[in-house]
Amino acid sequence: MGELTGRTVLVTGAGRGIGRAEALHLASLGANVVVNDPGVTIDGRGPDDSVAAAVVEEIHELGGRAVADTGSVADWDAAGRMVERAVEAFGDLHAVVNNAAIEVNKGLERLTEAEFDDVVAVKLKGTFAVSHWAAAHWRRRSDAGSKADRAIVNTASGSGLYNPLPSQSNYAAANAGVAAMTTVHALELGRLGVRVNCVVPSMVRTRLTREVPGMDQAPPTDGPDPRDPSVVAPLVSYLVSQDCPLTGQFLSVRGGTVIACRGWTIGDQVHKDGEGWTVPELARQLESLPLDDPFERLAGALGTALGSQGREALQAMISAELDKS
Ligand SMILES: NC(=O)c1ccc[n+]([C@@H]2O[C@H](COP(=O)([O-])OP(=O)(O)OC[C@H]3O[C@@H](n4cnc5c(N)ncnc54)[C@H](O)[C@@H]3O)[C@@H](O)[C@H]2O)c1
Repeated sequence: MGELTGRTVLVTGAGRGIGRAEALHLASLGANVVVNDPGVTIDGRGPDDSVAAAVVEEIHELGGRAVADTGSVADWDAAGRMVERAVEAFGDLHAVVNNAAIEVNKGLERLTEAEFDDVVAVKLKGTFAVSHWAAAHWRRRSDAGSKADRAIVNTASGSGLYNPLPSQSNYAAANAGVAAMTTVHALELGRLGVRVNCVVPSMVRTRLTREVPGMDQAPPTDGPDPRDPSVVAPLVSYLVSQDCPLTGQFLSVRGGTVIACRGWTIGDQVHKDGEGWTVPELARQLESLPLDDPFERLAGALGTALGSQGREALQAMISAELDKS
């Protein structure tokens, strides 16, 4: 008997990368797994049914239980069918891991409406759609008197939380939306016995991070790879487990380190009683207020300090990246 024996978990985007590793880990702990993945390219084209099927086969070969689902999370009805598939195959659904994503990275002036919509549809609407159908199922179970522990684990990115990146209007906005929705759903679904948390992978070696600076180094040959897609899986297995008390949490995983993230907070303020501010007054007052600097934040994420030279160099790097044809 594994820690997750008897629990059924739907993992979206489980055909590759982090989602595949999560599905394998969940199954190794005894969970029944619905492996969802339409097997699309990095930018969401060309479905391939064999991608989900291969993971299901791997799980079966290891003695686990799994079924494949090749629907798109961005398709409202297909998202509903994923929940039905779990119930048909295994009798119930205990947890959803919203992991699917695609990426189309371009500067704002070149990013098209369709490229914006497609990325948001998978990451943000897809998280909403699958969570909606799962919550509707759990509402019916709760009304029928079933009080089992249920869980949703969303997946966000530092690009969207603490470090939105140039070229990612669509991906960063969608991830920020997933984070906001995690808090909303944690507050709403507690009454149905559903916990909702969010994992935030960082610098994991998958096709999504192939072009991120520093990710092209070969994995170490003399020990475990801190960037292997499997580094996130134990945390996800814990978050879906019956005895986990956590809800409304954002946990970033970087190699062997798990970091609690905090959301937007209220900072320092200036105040004026009586008549409203004049523009020069505001300019003077805001100059003295410690404000966030997105360039400083990006430099920190890249591991460099930002002097005035650094700012120019960073701006040049951003321009070069965005102007690539
Ligand atoms: N790799 C990292 O370092 C990193 C960092 C931050 C966040 N993330 C997040 O982790 C998650 C997994 O990313 P990954 O790096 O493993 O990427 P990946 O491309 O290896 O895997 C994503 C999977 O999602 C599937 N998918 C795409 N569109 C789908 C749809 N409409 N419906 C269902 N499945 C769909 C793809 O076919 C693919 O197999 C994503 O949510 C990503 O935003 C990854």
